[in-house]
Amino acid sequence: MNVPVNDLPEYNPTRLAIFISGTGSNMEALLEACEEDDYPAKPVLVLANKASAGGLEKAKARGIQTVVVDHKVFGGDREAFEHAIQAELEKHDVEFIALAGFMRVLTPWFIGKWEGKMINIHPSLLPSFPGLHTHQRAIAAKCRLHGCSVHYVTAGVDEGPIIGQAAVPIFPDDTPDTLAARVLVAEHKLYPACLEAAVSDDQNSSYVQMSDDPDAPFIISAP
Ligand code: GRF
Repeated sequence: MNVPVNDLPEYNPTRLAIFISGTGSNMEALLEACEEDDYPAKPVLVLANKASAGGLEKAKARGIQTVVVDHKVFGGDREAFEHAIQAELEKHDVEFIALAGFMRVLTPWFIGKWEGKMINIHPSLLPSFPGLHTHQRAIAAKCRLHGCSVHYVTAGVDEGPIIGQAAVPIFPDDTPDTLAARVLVAEHKLYPACLEAAVSDDQNSSYVQMSDDPDAPFIISAP
């Protein structure tokens, strides 16, 4: 039986921009998720602050629009840089932003404009280890668990409300690189789950998932 078109549930995915500065492996995980049926976001723009960001080619290969807004062109004027970004976002009718390894601190002006509509992935179990060199710092602190967090972006760097987290073990022979690689596997699972929850505004349900991959054990807890 054919269902009349008017009776079909409306599929109206949120128009997503992903900001990158580097490799873009989290960006790829998000783009892959967005290809799934019924995923509630649709990537309309990948924005990088440098032309050398490796993720740009990966996005283009998937047919996603890309743009470079080079922060260096604006000297130290952060707001001018962000006004240029904002113009691109408006050009593409962007509704939601996912920062994925975007290495620029944003001003209160931009953050205020996108409050509640901009999320970030950070490679630590926040509020532990905000900032840089998180893997090295977790090893130095003799942590037994480490991981990643997806959170809303607010004025304090790496401080916004947490949407979801994934934890991985730290083994005695770990180096910052081996630990980073383990965390990255978890990041790629966590970020799409948290983006989906954030754009659907569905943060009351919760789930915990344990990986069945013995090489990359982790626990993920996201709405
Ligand atoms: C990730 O570890 C992310 O948590 C951090 O920067 C790294 C970016 O990696 N913010 P990639 O560009 O997504 O591969």
